[in-house]
Amino acid sequence: MSHYDALVIGAGVAGMSVVRSLYQQAPQLRVGLVTLLAPGQAGATPWAQGGVAVAWGQDDSPQLHTQDTLAAGAGLCRSEAVEVLTQEGPRRIQELLDIGTAFDRRPDGQLELTREAAHQRRRVVHAGDASGRELARALAQSLPSGLELIYGQVTRLITRGSRVVGVQLDGQRTLAASHVVLASGGVGQLFAATTNPVGADGTGLALAFEAGANLRDLEFVQFHPTALAVSTHGDNLPLLTEALRGEGARLVDETGQPFMGQYHPDAELAPRDVVAFALWQHRQAGHQTLLDARDLPVAQRFAQVHQLCLAAGFDPATQPLPVTPAVHYHMGGVEVDLWGRTQVSGLWACGEVSSTGVHGANRLASNSLLEGLVYGHRLGEALANAPFKAVCRVPEAAPVALRPDPLAMARVREILWSGMGLARSSQGLEKAAISLDRLRTRLQESGSSAYTVANLMLRSAAFRQESRGAHRRLDYPQTSPAWAGHTLVVPGQAIAMQALQPMAESQHQELLARSL
Ligand code: SIN
Repeated sequence: MSHYDALVIGAGVAGMSVVRSLYQQAPQLRVGLVTLLAPGQAGATPWAQGGVAVAWGQDDSPQLHTQDTLAAGAGLCRSEAVEVLTQEGPRRIQELLDIGTAFDRRPDGQLELTREAAHQRRRVVHAGDASGRELARALAQSLPSGLELIYGQVTRLITRGSRVVGVQLDGQRTLAASHVVLASGGVGQLFAATTNPVGADGTGLALAFEAGANLRDLEFVQFHPTALAVSTHGDNLPLLTEALRGEGARLVDETGQPFMGQYHPDAELAPRDVVAFALWQHRQAGHQTLLDARDLPVAQRFAQVHQLCLAAGFDPATQPLPVTPAVHYHMGGVEVDLWGRTQVSGLWACGEVSSTGVHGANRLASNSLLEGLVYGHRLGEALANAPFKAVCRVPEAAPVALRPDPLAMARVREILWSGMGLARSSQGLEKAAISLDRLRTRLQESGSSAYTVANLMLRSAAFRQESRGAHRRLDYPQTSPAWAGHTLVVPGQAIAMQALQPMAESQHQELLARSL
C-alpha cells in the first residue's frame, strides 16, 4: 500500500493552488494529486470564460469588493471569509503574473480590467474569453516536479476511528494518507442543463458526508442565464459569457425585440439571478430566448465563444443565439473554517466542493477562481504546519464495483432539473424526491454517489421555505428574516438551520431544529 503525507483530490484551480502552496512551505512531503485528466485540463477551471475578480484598479479596494460580494450573497456570506478573499486576492494575482499567466493588458502595460454585473468597479482580470484555460495552463506548468500524479476516481474516504487515513481509488486500490484534501468541484452534472464538465457530479460531497463531515447550504445552486441551448446528449451546454452582455449583446425573443426591460430596469445588466429568472419566465410564457451579439466583434474579442457557437452550428455574426439558463455553480459544500479544515480530522476541502461562507446564497460573478486561488493557498499553508503522523494499519475498504448506468444518471439529471431548478415548489421537490427514491438501488448498485448527493440537495431545498439568492420558491416568493441562516446537514442528524456566526465560535448552534 502506498503512503502519502497528503493526497489532493482534484486538479482545478483549488487543487493546484493547494499543491503549490504546500510545496512552498514543505517541499520534503510526499504529495499525490488525484485527477481524471491532466492538470491544465481537469475540472471546470479551464472552462471559465469571464476571469478573476480582484480589487486591482486604482479606483478599487478590497472593501468595495467585499461590499459587492456581501450584497450578491443575499445575507448569507460569512464576512470574515469574504474579507480574507478580497484582501488576499491581489497577492494571488501577482503570483499568477510572476509565473507567466498571460492576462490581457492595456496599451500602457497595465492589466485590462472588465466590469461584470453587480460589481461597482472594473475588476475582472481576464485572458480574452479563455481566462480559465490560461490560468490552468500557467498553474499546471508551475506544479512542483516532486508531485505524484495519480489518475483515477476516488470512490471512498477511508477512516480509522474518527480520522480520515486514506482513499479508495477506482473501487479497488487503497492509498494511505496523513491528510486528504477535497478539491473535486461542483454538482452541475446532476442537472439536465449545465455548463459544468463531466466529473462535476458532487462525488466529493458524498465522500465527505460518508466520512462524517458537515455539508452546508446544498440548496444554493447558481444558474447562468445564457448557456447555448443545444441538444447535448447528456453533456454540458456551451457557456456564452456574461461579458457578451457587458459589451452590449441583447436578449431578444422570437420577434427580435429585447425583453429584459420588462423585468428589470438594468435590463441585460441586472444581477445574474434576475436575468436567469426573467429568461425562465419568458420561456414559461411561450417565448423563445435568444442572445443577439451580431453587433459585437465576437470572433476577435470572444474567440472561445465564437468557436463553441460555430461547432454547434450557429454563427454569432449573422444570427441571434438560442439561450437557456443552466446550472453553473454550487454555493453549498463541505463546511470548512478559514483554512479549509472540515470537522473530520485529516480531511480538508477547498474550491467549489467547500463552503467557506464566501458566496452566501449567491456567488458574485468571477469570484470562484479567486476563491480557489486564495483558499487553496491558505489551505496549503495550514496543511504544511499540521502534524504528519505516520499512517499505520489503514483498513482496506470493501471493493466497490463500478458499473456506470447512463440511463439512471440521465433520469437523475431530469429529476433535479425539473424539481430543483431555478423555480421550485414544495410539490415539485417532493415529487423529485419520490422519483429519486425509485432509482436508489439502481444508482447504488452502479457504484455512483448520485443518490446520496441528490437526496441531500433535494432535502435541503425543501427545508428552506423562502426565496433567497440564486433561486425562487414559487410557493414562498419572499425572502424571510426567519430563514437568515445556513442549512446544515450533519451526518446522522436532521437537517437544521445554523446561526450566522463563525463556525468555531458558534459550535454549530442550531436555531431551528426541524426534521423533514
Ligand atoms: C461568465 O463568464 O459569464 C461566467 C463567469 C462566472 O461565472 O464567474
